Amino acid sequence: MARVPRRKVTVIGAGNVGATTAQQIIETGLADVVLVDIVEGLPQGKALDLAEAAPVIGYDVRIVGTNDYADTADSKIIVVTSGIPRKPGMSRDDLIATNATIVGGVVKAAAAVSPDAIIIVVTNPLDAMCHVAMRASGFPKERVIGMAGVLDSARFRSFIADELEVSVRDVRAFVLGGHGDTMVPLPRYSTVGGVPITELLSPERIEQLVDRTRNGGAEVVALLKTGSAFYAPAASVVEMVESILRDRRRVLPCAAYLDGEYGVRGLFCGVPVVLGNGGIERVIEISLTPDERAAFDKSAEAVRELVEHLPA
Ligand code: APR
Repeated sequence: MARVPRRKVTVIGAGNVGATTAQQIIETGLADVVLVDIVEGLPQGKALDLAEAAPVIGYDVRIVGTNDYADTADSKIIVVTSGIPRKPGMSRDDLIATNATIVGGVVKAAAAVSPDAIIIVVTNPLDAMCHVAMRASGFPKERVIGMAGVLDSARFRSFIADELEVSVRDVRAFVLGGHGDTMVPLPRYSTVGGVPITELLSPERIEQLVDRTRNGGAEVVALLKTGSAFYAPAASVVEMVESILRDRRRVLPCAAYLDGEYGVRGLFCGVPVVLGNGGIERVIEISLTPDERAAFDKSAEAVRELVEHLPA
């Protein structure tokens, strides 16, 4: 009897975020993983190490490392983490140009052999890289998704839980907009056990937590000094992967290509979406107060500016 292949997730970039994502996917037994990098030996070495942990931890999905996109064929999901970090003296435009070339190249190669895949983009600057991935793959908007909001809201949730000394499990947070500085948290939709945090914390304290969330990435970079966050980013990717593979239809904040929703057309922006087997099943629209609207528009404008800096 012919063997039915297991579901396959390709993770491009075997650095901190990519390798940790691969580890978390196989440890939850969600799918076989193919780890790809441009550096020879790096994905092979990390995949071998992870495969050798399998008997101890007890996962039985497979992981392979490769430099060859042929090995990624027929993936259900392609996670893109390849890129370079911003180096001292490098302008934002230089970073965008370099990462756009990297993301464009890897997406083209991976999409060619997995034409039905769903792409999850992680490489920064996130919203701009989503555009590059959509252009390079030619995939429809439902199948190109950016990971940002899950991470931003996870950070916000962890700070709220700490502040109120409650379990993170009971804290929900709602964020909109671009990744980072222009993120738009919505405190009135952020809840602890169903109670909006506006009932539990002072506006000043909420603003402080929001600020810390906006700078969450920078706070980790300042401590690490030689790299950026990877545990929480990887966990956030895996939550999205799981919702897609298991068709859970979780409502998660993701960067989605807006086609008129929230009054925005032709831009990737962080919004709540239903994530299922087909990728983005639906964008959920909520009404915004004038202040929230202004913050969202500012965020969309910042994304538009980034996209305009993309090489043609
Ligand atoms: N093809 C494949 N892999 C590549 C390519 C390429 N063309 N160019 C670079 N890479 C690989 C690097 O060799 C490296 O192993 O991408 C990997 C990036 O890993 P790290 O430098 O460890 O970066 P990481 O911390 O994982 O972050 C990756 O995610 O959160 C974002 O801002 C972060 O954009 C960054 C990305």
